Amino acid sequence: MAVPAMDLAPLDRILEDFKDQKGAVIPILQRAQEAFGYLPREALLAISKGTGISASRLYGVATFYAQFRLTRRGRHLVKVCDGTACHVRGAAKIVEGIEEALNVKPGGSDPDFKYSMEIVYCLGSCGLAPIAVVDDKVYGQTESAALIEQLQKLE
Ligand code: FES
Repeated sequence: MAVPAMDLAPLDRILEDFKDQKGAVIPILQRAQEAFGYLPREALLAISKGTGISASRLYGVATFYAQFRLTRRGRHLVKVCDGTACHVRGAAKIVEGIEEALNVKPGGSDPDFKYSMEIVYCLGSCGLAPIAVVDDKVYGQTESAALIEQLQKLE
């Protein structure tokens, strides 16, 4: 089965906006990531072609800065803390519960790209352990079933 080609049309406008700005690598990558949700290989190659900036330089910048993603992410990002305090208070159960109920592994996304899950190590609020952060919302002293219920309510 053929994989449909990616629609790179959003790049036309971005490249046009920066055509007179030499070395605007970061803003170009930021705009491209806004357009696609991540930086697909095809987009990086098209940016390279359109700007004359080498693909290796673009990859170098994209991998250096934590703000850039080279893989597609789900619409909702679930960060589960597995720092010491959260680990002791059951973070592993939360991770397992999410894996099972929503079909998403740590560091990955579900097949529909609704959720992505990341494991983080201490969010600086150990008194609220175990903690998960969904998009920008903090769930303190949470437990697996309650968190999953909240996640399933998301669009
Ligand atoms: S260990 Fe989870 S907030 Fe500190």
